Amino acid sequence: MTTHKVALIGGDGIGPEVVAEALKVVAAAGVDLDTTSYDLGADRYLRTGEVLPDTVLEELRGFDAILLGAIGPPVGSTDVPPGTLERGLLLRLRFALDLYVNLRPFTGVPGALAPDCDFVVVRENTEGTYAGEGGFLRKGTAHEVATQGSVNTRHGVERCVRFAFRLASGRPRRQLTLVHKTNVLTFAGDLWQRTVDEVAPEHPEVARDYNHVDAACIYLVEQASRYDVVVTDNLFGDILTDLAGAVAGGIGYAASANLNPDRTGPSMFEPVHGAAHDIAGTGRANPAAAIRSAALMLDHLGETSAADRVTKAVLGFVASAPDHSLSTSAIGDAIAERL
Ligand code: IPM
Ligand code: MN
Repeated sequence: MTTHKVALIGGDGIGPEVVAEALKVVAAAGVDLDTTSYDLGADRYLRTGEVLPDTVLEELRGFDAILLGAIGPPVGSTDVPPGTLERGLLLRLRFALDLYVNLRPFTGVPGALAPDCDFVVVRENTEGTYAGEGGFLRKGTAHEVATQGSVNTRHGVERCVRFAFRLASGRPRRQLTLVHKTNVLTFAGDLWQRTVDEVAPEHPEVARDYNHVDAACIYLVEQASRYDVVVTDNLFGDILTDLAGAVAGGIGYAASANLNPDRTGPSMFEPVHGAAHDIAGTGRANPAAAIRSAALMLDHLGETSAADRVTKAVLGFVASAPDHSLSTSAIGDAIAERL
């Protein structure tokens, strides 16, 4: 049996609680992890002023994977300037480890707006408006200018699009939808559309579609089951996946994998939800998203049968119309028992 070296970043608020349940389920699936915990997040920043020391980043490169809970100060707190942890920790990890695909699967749960949906969003994870291009001119004056450009490289778009085609090709429906705003973003959108058109002949088995991002919002609410694989840029992907989480049953079920598909370093797995300080320590956090994220990690580590079993256990538990008063650890136990 292989032991996988996994770095744990529990983070803030409910982060450590949901990571604990994910580890419980991974152990129940019979996969052996050699874990090392890293104290990173708002708490550490407030204590020491450190966000992600270079030495820690270098150490993280040596792991097989990173499992992250949630990062962020309480909503409304002014102790941590906006962007400090987002740019300094989460985006720094995504960029430095070249985690260029943010994979976010959505499976409708009973009672959701879209109970029958089953699709995956492939969000480009290193470019777009997130890249950090731009700045201020004449800051603080009446003529202040702020720009924040969207960076789209052929290399970055193409590797993401190729990943999405390969993913679609391996799924039963074999359907890929590019979501963008080509009618207005005529430079970036053109590059994305041309890239999809040029890669498509390598995958004649995949049916292609295109939706403008505003229309995609309507479709997600009215008929999310139409989607199989969606590929989109970083910011559209950020927004669409919150909407997708809401229509599929709630952000408490939304998992994500920040993947380095070329395997030049570890990939990072995290629930889409935040630190939810308001319910931290109350046992009311839903660990389902963290557990499903751990299943994505197992799949990436080559533990495909354990990954399948964990995903099925999460989805089976959720479909069993569980008692909504179950505590965080009771949900972890119930999912582990299904393995
Ligand atoms: C997400 C989050 C992050 C993002 C933030 C916290 C930087 O919203 O993972 O979707 O915008 O990517
Ligand atoms: Mn987001």
